[in-house]
Amino acid sequence: MATSDHDWTPDSWRARHAAQSPTWPDPAHLSRVEAELATKPPLVFAGEARRLQDDLALVSRGEAFLLQAGDCAESFYDGSADAIRDKLKVILQMAVALTYAAGVPVIKVGRIAGQFAKPRSDSFEERDGVRLDAFRGHIVNGEAFDEVARRPDPDRMLAAYHQSVATLNLLRAFTTGGFAALSRVHAWNQEFVANSLEGKRYEVVADEIERALQFMRACGIDLHDDNALRTVDFYTSHEALILPYEQALTRRDSLTGDWYDCSAHMLWIGDRTRQLDGAHVEFLRGVANPLGLKVGPTMGTDELVRLTAALNPENRPGRLTLIARMGQDRVDERLPPLVERLRDEGVHVVWACDPMHGNTFVTAAGQKTRHFDDVLAETAKFFELHQALGTWPGGLHVELTGDNVTECLGGGSRLVEGDLTFNYTSICDPRLNATQSLDMAFHVAEFLQRYSGANGARSL
Ligand code: PEP
Ligand code: CO
Repeated sequence: MATSDHDWTPDSWRARHAAQSPTWPDPAHLSRVEAELATKPPLVFAGEARRLQDDLALVSRGEAFLLQAGDCAESFYDGSADAIRDKLKVILQMAVALTYAAGVPVIKVGRIAGQFAKPRSDSFEERDGVRLDAFRGHIVNGEAFDEVARRPDPDRMLAAYHQSVATLNLLRAFTTGGFAALSRVHAWNQEFVANSLEGKRYEVVADEIERALQFMRACGIDLHDDNALRTVDFYTSHEALILPYEQALTRRDSLTGDWYDCSAHMLWIGDRTRQLDGAHVEFLRGVANPLGLKVGPTMGTDELVRLTAALNPENRPGRLTLIARMGQDRVDERLPPLVERLRDEGVHVVWACDPMHGNTFVTAAGQKTRHFDDVLAETAKFFELHQALGTWPGGLHVELTGDNVTECLGGGSRLVEGDLTFNYTSICDPRLNATQSLDMAFHVAEFLQRYSGANGARSL
């Protein structure tokens, strides 16, 4: 596999160009932080990353569905227990809706516990004749438009590490300590969601699950004894953008001798850093974690074939997830040739749909937003074209939060432009709120049902 390539080392990316990298003003300070991070405990274990890869192999065979969701950019101001719990609640709710309605296992991966870095379309931002470094996420600099805040500060990598540790610790407690037990299915419906149409629809599903559990109990099945009902596998992921951070958390697995980036279970390469000869592809090809690759409208078919060969030379199922983010107006034209080519060449990948990043626009009032209808339209087309090609629409990748934010238009909450100012708290891209997320999950469940019905692949 890639890790045995003689020319790969954890720092071989340094000889390549790293797009979207901040210019750190004090290289000695950066080196000190990298050395300190390298002494820290890993956030995840190699065995966990391998288990996720096995789960994703099921997805690549059409036997499971991937739900990857969370913040656009995590914030240093927002690492509270409540915020983490509410994000987990909405992801669990979505997974229940998908599993129950469509009858497929759902692999749950959060954009969480490390999703702090942002690629930007411009390296600088100019306001009233003042030109400063762009905001690149809290792992690099601050969002305030002043010179001190915008200066890249390596100490932020340590802060990001510590917040990721605390977040993951709580997630592990929630997912194994009883909170995520299926018997708590009602408790995940937050009050402000419960009153919505989607919330009520969820209650019906939750009631039915509860009845099924009662039935099992009455049959003498001990539900406390069953891991699958009591705990949940929840994995972490982020864009591996800031390579000094990723390298510093890379460790050699004592069991297999392979290198793992232990900052998260799954790492992805963004649409702006996927150059075949670039530093990000070089670094990630050598770590054995399952990988994601964003696939935007400028991706060519030959280019994609070469990238899949570089990142997954042994063509292992589950190793590579392609996250398509074309935009609802371009997906019909751009995606089919890519899917078809990989299908015909027998390249094993998971195809997931990111219906967020190709559908962003700025309102007349200057607010960055997305319309639920566009998000849904791209997702619907993703399912339709996979159905036409006989390939599996393997996953959904969305930006969401458990809060009652007003960042995306439309959806169950029927938000209009004037509402955007009420509760817009994202420090980067607009996220679906909890109600819109649940709305999305019910729609996707229907797409899955339709797909399975049409293909006769599985009973519902
Ligand atoms: C993201 O996922 O937040 C992102 C920046 O995506 P992309 O690389 O697809 O633009
Ligand atoms: Co984003």
